[in-house]
Parts: sequence; C-alpha cells; structure tokens
Amino acid sequence: MHYESTKIDRSTEKSVYETLLKSMDSVLEPNIPVISNLSNFIAVLKDSFPKISWIGYYFLKNGSLYLGPFQGKVACTKIEVGSGVCGTVAEKKESLIVENVHKFSGHIACDSGSNSEIVLPIFNNGELIGVLDLDSYDFAAFTELDKIYMEKMLNLLSNKINFNTLNF
Ligand code: SME
Repeated sequence: MHYESTKIDRSTEKSVYETLLKSMDSVLEPNIPVISNLSNFIAVLKDSFPKISWIGYYFLKNGSLYLGPFQGKVACTKIEVGSGVCGTVAEKKESLIVENVHKFSGHIACDSGSNSEIVLPIFNNGELIGVLDLDSYDFAAFTELDKIYMEKMLNLLSNKINFNTLNF
C-alpha cells in the first residue's frame, strides 16, 4: 500500500474527494479479505474530513442492519429496516442527507453530540447489502457535494472488492 495522506490536495472538499478517488486505488488491495479493505476505506475518509465524527457500515443480515467496521464512538449494533436514518435509507435505497438530526423523526442517537448525517446505500450487483453512515457534530455538515462524491467512492469500492466474499 502506497497511500500517503500528506499528498491530499486540501484546498477544497471537492479537491480532497478528487484526490481520494485517485489514491483509493492504492489503498484497496486485491487478494486481501474484504473486511480489511472496508476498514481502510473508512479510515481514509475519516482521516481526510475533520467534520466526520463517526463513519461506519451497517450490513443487512436476516432482514436487519448490523454494525460493521467503523471509526468513532461505540454505536448501536442493530437497526431495523425502516428505523432511523440508516433504516430509512435501507428501505428507500436512496442516499439521505439530514441537516439536523434532532428534526428527523425516529433518528437513532448513538452519540448525543451528533447533529447532522448522511447515509448512503451500498449495492452489490444491484442488490442492497447495507448502508454507509457518516455523522458530524456540525449542523448541515453534509451537502449535495458529499452525496455525489461519496456515491462515486462507493461505486469505486464496489468495483474493486468482491462483496460476495464478505462473510457477515
Ligand atoms: N443515527 C443513525 C444510527 C447510527 S449512528 O448514528 C452511528 C440512524 O438514525 O439511523
């Protein structure tokens, strides 16, 4: 792995995402377990954006979402589809930006300091397998720019790793 966080162009959030889209190639390694790549993927993102207080996966198993690799404080381990922001995204299969989590009916507060979040669906061969959740202590931390680029990052992830080997 040749990734160096010091080489990120930090002038704007867009430039950070553009650099990451190129450098993620050297972070994601073929021939290692999926869980290792999933872990480094979120470590790079958390390291690149100070506004992220928590980032992690919830994967579908037996019809519920279960906590996967994450960076941040201890989090809820099980979320029902349709519940909270993560469960809503799993149900609708569409990304959701929540500018103020306190105004989102049914929001699940794992960390009371969290004020906004973005949740994105994760697909494997067109089938929903989980969601990626990013939280922030700032209000309205995530914008359409994050949605567009995080979806690109997840596409890159899905193309580089084989989710079929994820033994979850
Ligand atoms: N806030 C999320 C729950 C997960 S934690 O924030 C890590 C939700 O409402 O689904």
